[in-house]
Amino acid sequence: MPIKAAVIGAGSMGNNHLALLATIPDVQIVALVDPDEQASRAAAEKHRVPAVYPDIAPMLAAERPEYVVVASPVKYHAPQAIAAFDAGAHVLVEKPLCMDLAEAEGIVAAATRAGRLFTMGFQRRQSRAFRALKRFIADGKLGAIYHSRVWGGHTMSYAWGRYHHRKDQSFGGVAAATVIHDLDALLWVIGVPEPVTVSASIFRKLDKVPDPYISFIGTAADVTVEDFAHAHVRFADGSSMSIEGNWLMHPRKRHSGFEINGVLGIGSDAPPMVELDRGRDVDPVELEHEPEPANAVLQEHVEFLAAIQGHGTPVVTFREALVVQRILVGLYESAERGGEVRV
Ligand SMILES: NC(=O)c1ccc[n+]([C@@H]2O[C@H](COP(=O)([O-])OP(=O)(O)OC[C@H]3O[C@@H](n4cnc5c(N)ncnc54)[C@H](O)[C@@H]3O)[C@@H](O)[C@H]2O)c1
Repeated sequence: MPIKAAVIGAGSMGNNHLALLATIPDVQIVALVDPDEQASRAAAEKHRVPAVYPDIAPMLAAERPEYVVVASPVKYHAPQAIAAFDAGAHVLVEKPLCMDLAEAEGIVAAATRAGRLFTMGFQRRQSRAFRALKRFIADGKLGAIYHSRVWGGHTMSYAWGRYHHRKDQSFGGVAAATVIHDLDALLWVIGVPEPVTVSASIFRKLDKVPDPYISFIGTAADVTVEDFAHAHVRFADGSSMSIEGNWLMHPRKRHSGFEINGVLGIGSDAPPMVELDRGRDVDPVELEHEPEPANAVLQEHVEFLAAIQGHGTPVVTFREALVVQRILVGLYESAERGGEVRV
């Protein structure tokens, strides 16, 4: 019997999920939820979804999906994920998880109560190269990790759409929406150390430049998120991390990446992924790994569906999802207070 799946949100990511789920033979897409009737009708027609609903509750009651993909604006992630768990579904929640820590804990509690599986839209974890680097570090071959840094952003453009530039809808700007992918991948690769404090600054440049390029649906006056963020994180094991994000990055910058400083050398997301110290010289190490999946988001579904069918476990644990959320909540709290905060 195919697994009955429903997608929440008919925006750019919802459409992406629908297109990919439609290629998986074990999946039957039963419904799509979006209050924007025009968006949901267009997506349903394109991806041959048999039923559309403006709200998740009647959809869950009528369709009883076993798998729900939450790809709505962040403001709705927690109530929708909790409703889906309460209705007995396994749930993939898009990033960022939700608006604060209480909501995050509510999602974990609902999944635990229902005994259903949870994962997140962290498709960078599908990288086979990252998995090889994670094994290399777990085996102690880079030595103890004492510092890492991650950066991300866009070239002179905010995230597209009606929501990402509004804090009441999206939780945050470049840090929560864009850097989060590489932040999560980096934390996962180094073994998710326990964060203790965050000290951060954020800035918004868009409404200060004379003729800003508007890449979203709205005006500069509607923007309530940051387009630049910088944070320093201390971990319980004594290591640290630097996080930097910029949606208005200049064209020649490398958009995103991470670098890991270990006692024995450096790891990074770009080849050569490992350089071991040899005195004042370095020794590049070729990491062997399986071929990369053709589409990381598709592979994320394939892996999660396998876990739902009893093969393996979801790639994202509750603790890992909460660590990312704690760091981001800490980043915004610290920036607002102008000092270091405990997370
Ligand atoms: N994993 C990734 O690479 C990736 C990429 C882009 C977006 N995302 C995430 O996916 C989510 C959606 O982002 P997007 O870029 O598709 O946004 P979008 O603006 O393109 O679409 C959002 C859609 O949600 C609908 N919506 C609004 N309220 C809703 C509600 N209560 N219930 C259901 N639908 C509702 C809107 O009508 C719209 O169609 C966000 O969490 C975003 O961070 C993830």
